[in-house]
Parts: sequence; structure tokens; C-alpha cells
Amino acid sequence: MKLWGGRFQKETAGIMDRFNASIPFDQKLYKHDIMGSIAHAKMLGKSGIISQEESEKIIEGLEEIRKDIENGKVEFKIEYEDIHMNIETLLIERIGEVGKKLHTARSRNDQVAVDIRLYIREEIEKISELLWDLLQIFVSLSKDHVDTIMPGYTHLQRAQPINLGYYFMAYFQMFQRDFQRVLDCKKRLNVLPLGAGALAGTTYFTDREFLAKELGFDRICENSMDAVSDRDFVIEFISSGSMIMMHLSRVCEELVLWSSQEFGFVEMDDGYSTGSSIMPQKKNPDVAELIRGKTGRVYGNLINILTIMKSLPLAYNKDMQEDKLPLFDTVETLKDCLMIFKDMICTMTIKKENMKKATKAGFMNATDVADYLVSKGVPFRSAHEIVGKMVLYCIDHDKTIEELSLEEFQRFSDKFEKEIIERVQIETCMNSKVSQGSTSKENVLKMIENAENFFRRD
Ligand code: ARG
Repeated sequence: MKLWGGRFQKETAGIMDRFNASIPFDQKLYKHDIMGSIAHAKMLGKSGIISQEESEKIIEGLEEIRKDIENGKVEFKIEYEDIHMNIETLLIERIGEVGKKLHTARSRNDQVAVDIRLYIREEIEKISELLWDLLQIFVSLSKDHVDTIMPGYTHLQRAQPINLGYYFMAYFQMFQRDFQRVLDCKKRLNVLPLGAGALAGTTYFTDREFLAKELGFDRICENSMDAVSDRDFVIEFISSGSMIMMHLSRVCEELVLWSSQEFGFVEMDDGYSTGSSIMPQKKNPDVAELIRGKTGRVYGNLINILTIMKSLPLAYNKDMQEDKLPLFDTVETLKDCLMIFKDMICTMTIKKENMKKATKAGFMNATDVADYLVSKGVPFRSAHEIVGKMVLYCIDHDKTIEELSLEEFQRFSDKFEKEIIERVQIETCMNSKVSQGSTSKENVLKMIENAENFFRRD
């Protein structure tokens, strides 16, 4: 007999049980469901909707069910559809008639909404901790590499010299925003839907403020139709998750490139690499590639939930049961990726010498030569032209700018004086970037200091 079987004259079709059920996946919510039910039972007792004694019996029953689930003693049944009705049925089986009172002043619609919010809230805690660890790793890597000079790229062409610490601090900024984004998402979802009933509220004098307090919500949903209808908080969470994956995919792409022989900037630890089944020499950066690949999966989840919610009329529709699959998958993928990414970058070898060597070619000091001419009164556009010609000359003569003699410099402009020789050294070029937020060591040290203040504050 179904919990809702009263108005039915026939059994549901055989295939319905499987098709309609969410228990294969929503059993993940058992803890949150029981937590919500305990708070609800407490509230019912306290408000005199059921007796104190009944309330206590229900709570005891629910606590036992939780223990049994945790000890693997419970087998969920597909014919009870979802986690809510599985637990309610178990409760009734165990404590009898009084168990049937738990669902007073509640619907599965507000029940599932509260469960998902409790679940995401808990997962955001874990994800933000992982992000926090990652931020600390970026800062510590940065500290180690304020003097590690490397090419900075645009269009993947060598552009200007930077230091690796500066590169890591760029990602620090991105992941710091991601960290703030998930916490921000928590603020908006930490509002209580329970007590909304099916869509219109209930006829009972429930105490929703009490429920909010019990369950740690900041306030209650003001409109019960909104409370049961929307999943914008799921979308917002997956969207923040997509952003995290997008950032991870960019570092990963770089690390894949950097592990190639063509770059040779890093080497992944054996523990985070794999070999080839045919080519004995291969060592592949699979972790970085997989994270890059899994980004597509999380974006897919975002489109999935956006499409489920598109055009849904108010209030609850069964379509919404499908929200959990992209949500759970996003949470698991994010946690795995953040964890393994962190281990991978902490264990990789950074080949400083190769990075430095790479700064020799590519005329990355060309802009600095132009800036030098500007300091001598040449308008920037003309200086650009002069240095362009110098680069052509260097290509023809197979030289770098820093290999030119003063006499060669002066062939292009009489403004060049002997200090130009020092000014075009790659290290000098890097550290002469004096503008705020630039790559000079001094500025990167400032960024690190700001990051450390952030760690202390939060
Ligand atoms: N399993 C359902 C879900 O996840 C619970 C809510 C069902 N509500 C209903 N009116 N059928 O969405």
C-alpha cells in the first residue's frame, strides 16, 4: 500500500515504481531528511499540534532509523519512491500509529526543499574548506617562486617576463573569488522552506521561526509558493561550481602544456601520472587532463538543471525530482577535483632552469626598449616602430635584444645610451614593472602579504 494510496483503485503500473522513484539517488539525503523531520516533530509537539509524548516517540524512532541506516541495517524500497516516504514508512512500521502523525502540517514539497538546502549548506562548508587550502597552497608556492623568472604569454606567444610567484597569485585571486562566491551562495540558500506545505501554507499554527532556529537557517521563506517552487539556489551553486571548474581547467591546461617536452616547465610526480599501455617511454599528466575534461561534466550539469527549471509553471512539478542528479554529481566532481588538484600541484617538480631559458628567446624585453625610448622623449608610437625594426634586425642576425652592442642599439636611435645594456636584461625588465599590481618582486610580495591578511581575517 502506497502512503498516498487512498484515492486509487488500481495498482500503479509495474514500470512506474522504477521510473517514478528517486530513492536510488536521493537516499544520499537520509541524514538531512531525518534532521528536518526531527525539527518538524519537535515543533509539532511544542506548538500543541501533537502531544509532547507523541513528539518524543517520533523523534526517538527517527533517531533509531538514522542509526540503523548508518550501520547498513536498512534496505530502502523502490516501491516507497523516495527517501521521504521510505523513512516515513519505516517509522510507521517501527512505532505504529503515532508515526502517521509526523507528516501533519508538512508536504514532501517543503520537505525535499529543506533537505536539499541542508545538503548544499553542508557541502558548501566542505568545498569552501578545500578552496581555502588551495588558496594557501597558491600563496606558499608563490612565496617560493618570487624569483623564478618565466615567460608570460598572450595568445600563447611569449610576451613579457614574469615570475612564477606572480602567476600563482593570479590564480589566488580567481580562486579567492570562487571561495567568496560559494559562501555568498550559502547566504542566499540558508532560508527555511519547511512549513510551506504543498504550496499554500497550512491550516496549523506552526512555529516556523522555531524550525528555522532548530535547523540553523537565517530566516524563513516569506512566500510558501516560492519556497517549494524554486531551485535557483541549486542553479547558483552549480554555477559557482562551474566557475571553479573553469578556473581549474585553465591551470590544468597550462600544466598539461608545461609538462610537454616542448615546454618542459614542470614534471608531475609519478603518483599523479600514468603510463601508456603501448609506448614504454610515456608519462602522461592524466590528472590535469581529467580535471580539464570533468569541467565539461559540471557545465553539463548546469545546463541540465537550467533546462529542467525552464518554463516550469508554479508550484512543485515532478520534473524537479531530477534536480538531484546534476547537483550530487557536481558536488562529488568538485570535491574530487579540488582534492586531487591540490595534491598534484604540491608534488609536481618545477623546472626553474627551463623556465629561465625560455625567457631568453621571444624578445620579451621589446616593450621595455620602447619604454626606454619614451623616457628619452620619443613618442610611444614612434618608439614602437623603432623597436619593431630592431626585432627584425635581431631575427635576421639570429641575436636576442640583450646580445646587441651599444653601437648596434645606436644604429636605430641616437637616444640609446649605455644604461640600455642593463635595462634590457630580462630580470631587470621584470622588476622594473613598477605599476601597482605588476609582476615585480616587490609587488608580488605585497600581494602575498595581502593574502596573508585575508587568511588572518577570515
Ligand atoms: N521525490 C520528490 C522530489 O525529489 C519529493 C517531492 C515529491 N512531491 C510530490 N508532490 N510528488 O522532488
